[in-house]
Amino acid sequence: MSDVKSTNITWHEGDLPRDERFKALNCTGATLWFTGLSASGKSTIASALEQVLVANGVNSYRLDGDNVRFGLNKNLGFSAEDRAENIRRIGEVAKLFADSGCVSLTSFISPYRGDRDQCRELHVEGKLPFIEIYVDTPLDVCESRDPKGLYKKARAGEIKGFTGIDDPYEEPTNPELVLKTADHSVDQCVQQCLELLASKGIVNVTANA
Ligand code: ADX
Repeated sequence: MSDVKSTNITWHEGDLPRDERFKALNCTGATLWFTGLSASGKSTIASALEQVLVANGVNSYRLDGDNVRFGLNKNLGFSAEDRAENIRRIGEVAKLFADSGCVSLTSFISPYRGDRDQCRELHVEGKLPFIEIYVDTPLDVCESRDPKGLYKKARAGEIKGFTGIDDPYEEPTNPELVLKTADHSVDQCVQQCLELLASKGIVNVTANA
């Protein structure tokens, strides 16, 4: 975690308890944390899931690794330290979204277990659901997809420190859900996410409603 430099600050609780907010807005905030290799399918599944949720009246919003790096995290690269800060910031942002009643869907490689666990801890402390979804797609499948041509560049030595090639990916040890995109379609993966959300009492929607 980055150094704490903020001093002389006081938490302001506000007048609206979370349960009142959720009740009035008819929602339950949560974070679904998609993790996996580049091109594993995180963004594709999160995007399809977001569409189904919003079509069913659920406030859901995607926080996407590449997209967030265009703005909020444009000053971060891909060293272990920068990746940690990338994930720390997004953990905090996702928590704020969840607190507001949104089902936030994060799709970041988030290769380090410790960084992901810190995000989980943040949510546990804040009494908000954190659901880790491991998009478990083998490296050779990701590499054969290579939608951005980055694996090719990494193999050619044009990108250094590329996850899965010359940088580590630490698999989740106890994720709430594992999606095997090499064996299942996007729709099937979305269905598995919806079933999990229903089983956790977060939202109960069907894909074709
Ligand atoms: S993370 O490791 O910090 O979680 P994040 O999900 O934000 O990564 O960004 C990953 C995306 O950045 C990849 O999908 C790819 O498009 C791009 N990228 C550029 N350089 C790298 C790199 N060295 N390793 C992994 N992804 C990279």
